[in-house]
Amino acid sequence: MPALAQRMSRAKPSAIMVIADKAKKLKAEGRSIVNFSIGVPNFLPGEHVYEAARAALKTDTGAYGSNRGRDDLLDAFLGHLQESRFTGYTRANLAIGIGAKQVLYNLCEALLDPGDEIVFPTPYWTSYMDIAEILGAKITLLPCPPEQNYKLTPAQLDKALASKPKVFLFNNPSNPTGMVYTREEIAAIADVLMKHPDTWIIADDIYNRMVFDGVGYHNVVHLRPELRERTAIMDSLSKTYGMPGWRVGFVTAPERLATALVTLNSNHITNLPEIVTAAGVAALSGPQDITREKCADFSRRRDEVMTALLSIPGVKCPRPQGAFYVFPDISVAFGKSHDGRKIGNDVDFCAALLDAKGVACVPGSAFGEPRALRISYTCKPAELTDGLQRLREFFAELG
Ligand SMILES: Cc1ncc(COP(=O)(O)O)c(C=O)c1O
Repeated sequence: MPALAQRMSRAKPSAIMVIADKAKKLKAEGRSIVNFSIGVPNFLPGEHVYEAARAALKTDTGAYGSNRGRDDLLDAFLGHLQESRFTGYTRANLAIGIGAKQVLYNLCEALLDPGDEIVFPTPYWTSYMDIAEILGAKITLLPCPPEQNYKLTPAQLDKALASKPKVFLFNNPSNPTGMVYTREEIAAIADVLMKHPDTWIIADDIYNRMVFDGVGYHNVVHLRPELRERTAIMDSLSKTYGMPGWRVGFVTAPERLATALVTLNSNHITNLPEIVTAAGVAALSGPQDITREKCADFSRRRDEVMTALLSIPGVKCPRPQGAFYVFPDISVAFGKSHDGRKIGNDVDFCAALLDAKGVACVPGSAFGEPRALRISYTCKPAELTDGLQRLREFFAELG
C-alpha cells in the first residue's frame, strides 16, 4: 500500500475521546458510569434557537454561502464583541469556522510554516499540541504547575518570547484547569507582549462568558489596544450556548489575517450551513438568560467539587474560577495500589478509577501535566454528587 503523508505519523486521536469512548462502552455493557471526561456543557440552547433553525429550513436556498460567514451572523457576533467591550472591529475583521477547533487549525495554518515556533503554557488544551504537531511547528511549552496556580507569570513569558517565536497561544478561562486571569494579571502579560513585536498572539477565549466570583473577563487587547494589530481572538457558540454539535466558531483578527482565514475557508469548508447560521444569529442576538443561569449553576458545582476534593488527604487543587473543569493534583496516589492494582501514574489512576468505580476522568498527561486529572462537572447534579463520593471512596481504599 502506498504510504500516508509523513504528518500522519505525528497525528493522533484525541486522548479525551479515547476515555469517553471507553466510558460509553462500559455503560453500554450495563455498568453504572459517571462521566466526568468530556467537556460538553450538557444543556440545550433556548427554544428561540430551534425556532430560528426551523424557520430557516422553510426558506433554505440550498446554495453555497459566504466563506467569511453570512452578514447577519457577522453582525450578531459584532454585537456580542461590543458587549464584551471590544470596539472598533468590523465584518472585515471576522471569519467563521466549523467550531473554534477549526478556527484554530486555520490560524495555525495561516501563521506557522513547518519549523516555526509556537509557545503555549502547560497545562494546555489537547488540540493545541495535536494541531501544532500535525503542522510540523516547533513547540515550546511553558510549565505552569499547580504551585503557581497553573498560571503563566510575566517573567516566564518574557523569557520565552526572547527567541521571537511566531505565535504565542494563550487560553483564558482555561481548559483543563478552569483558571481565570485577573485584570491585573492580563495587564502584566499585555505589557510583556508589547515588548515583543515579532510574535502573533492567539487568544483562545471561548469560555469568556463562563467566569465566576466577579473576576470578569479580560483580554490583552482590552488592556493594550495596540496589540490588536497582531492578536487573533477565538470564540465559539459551543460552550456558551449549549451548542457544541452545531459547530460555530469565530475569530476576530486584524484584516489581513482575517482575509487569510477566509481564503483557507474557501479551500477547506466553503461555508456554514444556512440552518446553522440562522441558529447562530438567534443564539447571539436572543435572550442570554440560559447562559447566565448556567454560569451561576457551574460556579455552585465548582464549590461542590472543591469541597469534595479538598476533603481528600494529600489532594491539592488550585480553585478554578471559570469554564466547567477542575484539575486536581492527585500525585499523592502514585506508588500506592487499589485492590492489588499498582497506581504508577495518572493514566493508571484513571484506568483503575474507571474499572473499579465507574468514574471516567481524563489523565492530566493528555494536557501536559501528568500529576493531575481533569474533572468536567457538567453532568446531572445527582451524578456529580455520586461520582465525587465514588472518587473519595477510591482514595480511601488506596493502600
Ligand atoms: C480551550 C478550548 N478551545 C477550543 C475548543 C473548541 O471548541 P469548538 O467546539 O468550538 O470547536 C475547546 C473545546 O473543548 C476548548 O476547550
